[in-house]
Amino acid sequence: MKLILLGPPGAGKGTQARRIMDAHGIPQLSTGEMLRAAVDEGTEMGKMAEKIMDRGELVSDDIIVGMISERIDQPDCANGFILDGFPRSEAQAEALDSMLAERGLALDCVIEMQVDDEALVERLTGRFTCANCGAGYHDKFQQPKVEGVCDVCGGTEFTRRADDNEETLRSRLTVYHGQTAPLLPYYQGHGVLRSVDGMADIDEVTRQIEAVVNSCGEGGGND
Ligand code: AP5
Ligand code: MG
Ligand code: ZN
Repeated sequence: MKLILLGPPGAGKGTQARRIMDAHGIPQLSTGEMLRAAVDEGTEMGKMAEKIMDRGELVSDDIIVGMISERIDQPDCANGFILDGFPRSEAQAEALDSMLAERGLALDCVIEMQVDDEALVERLTGRFTCANCGAGYHDKFQQPKVEGVCDVCGGTEFTRRADDNEETLRSRLTVYHGQTAPLLPYYQGHGVLRSVDGMADIDEVTRQIEAVVNSCGEGGGND
């Protein structure tokens, strides 16, 4: 099963990708997380990406496409993967089509997560993440069961993202509408676009995605 989760910053891509990963045993490939790992490691690429991410703009297509192309050749991607935050431009979508075609692969579906812009500010300004295992939380919508303790790993340290401030978020939204939203008609044209109501609560969004994933699987192909 090869899926894309497509939606604006804060739509819930990462939250749902982790759930699909746990339920279906296929990895989440988040270009944002790969870039943040490079920033933490202090690599040359990380230093360059950090400045761009702080402005809420897109890192160059060449770097991103190279990262994904290497990643999908890893053994854990043999049964499929969930793309979270990639592709984000028409050039990236075309590069993905070519890299899949070269490997004799095809996308099963592209799931659009529809969320109103007004809801995104609240989602991102309240987001925090377990520093140990990366599990995502929210001050209001998804609190740990025990305050200050990660449900998944028991960790007690949490982080907030540098780009989750209102100014950077405004720029991330402009970039989404200008450069990424045009992928919706692109994938509609390819007959693989499906939409879910990303405004619903987290469990309901998971149910809608599961329904889509199951119906995509029926279309043929072994995984
Ligand atoms: P990236 O890390 O991909 O960020 P993003 O696309 O802006 O999306 P987010 O991770 O902010 O949101 P999400 O949809 O994952 O939401 P989440 O599940 O966490 O990219 C960051 C930067 O890296 C980019 O700006 C760019 O600079 C660069 N980059 C990345 N990929 C690139 C590419 N392909 N090309 C070029 N540059 C690239 O949920 C958000 C919060 O809401 C959480 O707190 C969660 O608990 C809560 N929540 C989730 N669902 C719900 C719900 N249904 N109801 C209520 N609350 C909810
Ligand atoms: Mg994310
Ligand atoms: Zn944790």
